[in-house]
Amino acid sequence: MGSGASAPRPQATCGQRPTMSNEERTFIAIKPDGVQRGLVGDIIKRFEQKGFKLVGMKFIQAPESLLREHYADLKERPFFPGLVSYMASGPVVAMVWEGLNAVKTGRVMLGETNPADSKPGTIRGDFCIQVGRNIIHGSDSVDSANTEISLWFKPDELCCYTSCANEWIY
Ligand code: RTP
Ligand code: MG
Repeated sequence: MGSGASAPRPQATCGQRPTMSNEERTFIAIKPDGVQRGLVGDIIKRFEQKGFKLVGMKFIQAPESLLREHYADLKERPFFPGLVSYMASGPVVAMVWEGLNAVKTGRVMLGETNPADSKPGTIRGDFCIQVGRNIIHGSDSVDSANTEISLWFKPDELCCYTSCANEWIY
């Protein structure tokens, strides 16, 4: 390193997550159809533009065991086997986004489960048609977000840093 100003050091650990704060986290995944249809950039752009902070991201071919656990609350539903094979049909972009009300606002940004009920301006409302090909997943509560984040990410795969835009957003 030269003698100029050094880059800020990232924090080593993230510590406990406060439940109601600018640091609420949600798990968002772009499903295989969103990847195949070339929508990754458009979807990430919406979360960036909103002001949420990206703290984790991986491009992964998810094993069926992980997907069965991820959607375990739906295992008795008739569409469960098809849901697991759809989610395993190609790579997904798994992400953690952070910010005030990230879980609830993330769900609003996604739209309804069935794209037919999703308003224009939402991700599902703008980019897809059928419930079985609805391109994106978002956690439905803070508790499920925490469970899903720890299912998909190891603690050291999440980055703690201060966004330079922080004071312009909050
Ligand atoms: P997600 O978990 O993927 O964010 O979706 P969600 O909360 O809006 O809806 P959820 O009830 O958790 O359903 C999970 C995914 O299962 C598929 N699905 N298919 N009737 C059907 O064929 C049906 N219902 C649900 C969708 O891909 C849905 O996102
Ligand atoms: Mg769900």
